[in-house]
Amino acid sequence: MNILILGADGFIGSHLTRRLADMEGVSVNVVDKQFTRLQAEHYNSECLDISEQSIEDLVAVNDVVIDLVAHANPSIYVKTPLDVYNLNFKVNMDVVELCVKYDKRLIQFSTCEVYGDHGFSDEPWNEDTTPFLLGPINEHRWIYSCAKQLLERVIHAHGIENDFDYNIIRPFNFIGHDIDFLPSLNPAGNPRVFSHFLESILTHKQFKIVGNGIQYRSYTFIEDAIDAILLVIFKGESKEIYNIGNPGNELSILDLMFYMREIAGRFWDKDAFDIPFEFVAGENFYGKGYADISRRVPDVSKVTSLGWDPQSDVFQTLYKSMRPWFE
Ligand code: UGA
Repeated sequence: MNILILGADGFIGSHLTRRLADMEGVSVNVVDKQFTRLQAEHYNSECLDISEQSIEDLVAVNDVVIDLVAHANPSIYVKTPLDVYNLNFKVNMDVVELCVKYDKRLIQFSTCEVYGDHGFSDEPWNEDTTPFLLGPINEHRWIYSCAKQLLERVIHAHGIENDFDYNIIRPFNFIGHDIDFLPSLNPAGNPRVFSHFLESILTHKQFKIVGNGIQYRSYTFIEDAIDAILLVIFKGESKEIYNIGNPGNELSILDLMFYMREIAGRFWDKDAFDIPFEFVAGENFYGKGYADISRRVPDVSKVTSLGWDPQSDVFQTLYKSMRPWFE
């Protein structure tokens, strides 16, 4: 099976590429606009920007296309919402249309953000029954969710009208040591929460807790997530959407900070226990247009029915994600 991975050098793409490349009967072809995580020379790779260069020839000669190209960081949704619309909808739409044209199977990465914000509801989010509840236009964080939602709807429509063969994956807070970058190494950027908390620990700088810290996420260790993605690739049912996330690893952001501080203090640096924290308003941290999501817990019955059984609990997930930074 020839698999084309777009956005292969990203956090998810690089872990997925390494696992696929080791499998018998699979030939992996990888595309990204830069290679910083993967060693490009080890793979059949093309360094190109799919928003500027055509990938028609590549789609035509592969059996499956996995599309991971996206902005996936809330600070970008707030700062440059048009970039988010352009990349996450328009550029991805071009990929969808090529897959339809050449009759190729598409595995499209979407997001848990499509569900929006359901407050602190106890109901896990189901792929096929949960409605999408987004905020007003002036909360432009939601452009990300909305762009991904429209992309999903167009893919679904191609499934109905053109018998298009696809799967959509909605990741829930995958985490690993190389998820983003330390904020001090890229002052123009603003990574996801794990990298902020990690930098506070490494530099003994005060943690910043956005809002009151009582917003919840379900953290999923990257290798467990890759297990689930592989099941979707090789056993997934055509035209199905799959949540991938570990509902057993739900944490408030305040507890995420306490856990990370505790792990660092116990294993590598006892002074980490004393690092203080402060609360900051979302608008001050991200800018105007930010909105938060109270709680997100996936219903994973569909991916579990394919045989998924995540192995890493909260402690293992955080310990394994932090350890490479201290060794
Ligand atoms: C993000 C992306 O939007 C999704 O696309 C992506 O699918 C998702 O992560 C994911 O990883 O699956 P979110 O969880 O809100 O969504 O992103 P983070 O930046 O990791 O923020 C998590 C929470 O921590 C937010 O409530 C944020 O306000 C808070 N936060 C962030 C802090 O309290 N302190 C910080 O220093 C940074």
